[in-house]
Amino acid sequence: MSQRRLFVTTALPYANGNFHIGHIMEYIQADIWVRFQRMQGHAVNFVGADDAHGAPIMIAAEKAGKTPQQFVADIAAGRKPYLDGFHISFDNWHSTDGPENHELARQIYLDLKKAGLIATKTIEQFFDAEKSMFLPDRFIKGECPNCHSKDQYGDNCEVCGAVYAPTDLINPYSALSGAKPVLKSSEHFFFTLSDPRCVEFLEKWTQDGKLQPEVANKVKEWFSVRENADGTKSEGLGDWDISRDAPYFGIEIPDAPGKYFYVWLDAPVGYLASLKNLLEKRGENYDAYMATPGLEQYHFIGKDIVTFHTLFWPAMLHFSGRKTPDNVFVHGFLTVNNGEKMSKSRGTGLDPLKYLSLGMNPEWLRYYLAAKLNARNEDIDFNADDFMARVNSDLVGKYINIASRAAGFISKRFAGQLGEVSADGAALLDTLRAAKDAIAPLYESREFAKALRETMLLTDRVNAYVDQNKPWELAKQAGMDARLQDVCTVCIEAFRLLTIYLKPVLPALATQVEAFLKVGPLGFADAGAMLGKGHVIGDYKHLMQRVDPKQLEALFEPPAQAEPVPATPADLPGGEALAPVITIDDFAKVDLRIAKIVNCEAVEGSTKLLRLTLDAGEGRMRNVFSGIASAYKPEDLVGKLTVLVANLAPRKMKFGISEGMVLAASHADEKTHPGIYVLEPLPGATPGMRIH
Ligand code: MSP
Ligand code: ZN
Repeated sequence: MSQRRLFVTTALPYANGNFHIGHIMEYIQADIWVRFQRMQGHAVNFVGADDAHGAPIMIAAEKAGKTPQQFVADIAAGRKPYLDGFHISFDNWHSTDGPENHELARQIYLDLKKAGLIATKTIEQFFDAEKSMFLPDRFIKGECPNCHSKDQYGDNCEVCGAVYAPTDLINPYSALSGAKPVLKSSEHFFFTLSDPRCVEFLEKWTQDGKLQPEVANKVKEWFSVRENADGTKSEGLGDWDISRDAPYFGIEIPDAPGKYFYVWLDAPVGYLASLKNLLEKRGENYDAYMATPGLEQYHFIGKDIVTFHTLFWPAMLHFSGRKTPDNVFVHGFLTVNNGEKMSKSRGTGLDPLKYLSLGMNPEWLRYYLAAKLNARNEDIDFNADDFMARVNSDLVGKYINIASRAAGFISKRFAGQLGEVSADGAALLDTLRAAKDAIAPLYESREFAKALRETMLLTDRVNAYVDQNKPWELAKQAGMDARLQDVCTVCIEAFRLLTIYLKPVLPALATQVEAFLKVGPLGFADAGAMLGKGHVIGDYKHLMQRVDPKQLEALFEPPAQAEPVPATPADLPGGEALAPVITIDDFAKVDLRIAKIVNCEAVEGSTKLLRLTLDAGEGRMRNVFSGIASAYKPEDLVGKLTVLVANLAPRKMKFGISEGMVLAASHADEKTHPGIYVLEPLPGATPGMRIH
């Protein structure tokens, strides 16, 4: 077989949260396929990246008090433990905010423009005048025009399911500021997918048989102009709005100051950018690689992002004169213990890092998911009981067991040497070897459940052979040494073949087996050969534990707090963990009073301190030093009310005695998050009032 060149990606996760188990499922699916291809001797570049841009990330960063760049960098810094932990063999992990993506996205846009497929149109949209920004649909809320439920999003109602435009909402308000949004017009850029050239191209590209049939059918609905059963008319493929106005975290559109690419324009370009970044790190040429004859390009994605990948993306590539994907592989959603599908933001259910931290074997999960995955975009459910049964009885009970039943005899009785195989064993091994021709195509076509079922049927045959021959009895009988070595040799050789068939799913285990068998890295071609008489294997060490039900209990035990606490203080918006719980009596010990700042002045000899003269209604003034000089000019504070810790023991300082302390907010790490904010009560409070 000649060597194939493959470029494989998984969807680029939004960089606004950690991975959840749905992401990990997608990576495991793609990784199994990639590892299978590599075992066939093919050359694969397998890349991922963070999807860094867009309004939600910009807003989340602002809330966290970070720049968007810092915000996505912090998320990216947490990716490795997941990817390494579940043995995901990406060759590269990059970001759509990297320089390669900025350059490639602009080039592709300019090429589309040259092809006459970019148009501008002025459109009216909701604008938040307080925040001075156009509001994405998700940030406009209001009353559903259909069922009148309050606080519904701008695109659809979560109560009655109605779909509408944000302008249909009753009493709309901005979810950012609460302000009433106003309609404002602005020029937007469009990719004119309604152009007959695009329609013709996409009809061919999506309907030529490469896509999964259910995907092709769904896609067909999106671009055909037709009369629906209920008499309404479907519009067909509309032009795609690819621009957003500043402020936006994204890539600026060439020659259009203040206009940015909509995140979904540059996100898939990130596939190419990550590849380019990888190749350049290796000293290879990106353009030359993309021009490799026969290069195959595949994207693994979930069913929710099909339109972007089967309409917009191929059209962007084709009409900018670039190679289009060879296929897009769509999977369904993972649910956990029959739970609802994991929400993108909440990611409830099974926490992948908790799974690992409980010492649960990542290959159990890989095996379990593989045993449920097929080539269709069906949803699958992680069920704890089913998980334990499959891992313990199939993976450990049927497969691992074969090695543990035979290896001891080989090492103790025959100094690790394999022996002669007689006809019955040879016939069994022939069956196992021949199974490669059935199993390999199942991996190729992503029918992993079927590939594992075939493999498990083989383990049944091997275990039946062991039960017939009873090596533990042969070992006790005189003169049966040769037969014992024969039977155990068959088991070891069978185990080697089964390991080949399971290796795409169980890469770390396979590495351990290779060391135990003293063989090089196993590929599918190795199924054609055999270890042979005289080959010496190593000592058998137990290869895999069974799942302990206690681990599953712990995994699904709800966290102690109602809200999950971020792993490190640095993940908390304020930069520090909550202090231990106190009682109301503890709190009552602190006497907080409203105080008026009657005077405020700089402190000579200090860049940090301001001297405050405070009236807390006591008939005398207090002198308080406060480290807020970096944030306020003295004149800005004079006349303001604030909060004083009134019963704090007076403290002698270099500049005089400080009789209390004023309250101010700041982030724990002042270097990365500068800013100090003195507290001020709402109108009506007067000096001397106690704060309860
Ligand atoms: N950023 C976009 C993708 C851009 S690709 C150029 C995005 N990100 S995402 O984080 O929301 O989703 C990333 C991938 O995870 C998608 O393929 C999505 O379908 C998949 N999944 C999200 N939740 C999932 C499950 N519960 N189960 C399986 N896959 C899931 O969309
Ligand atoms: Zn409704």
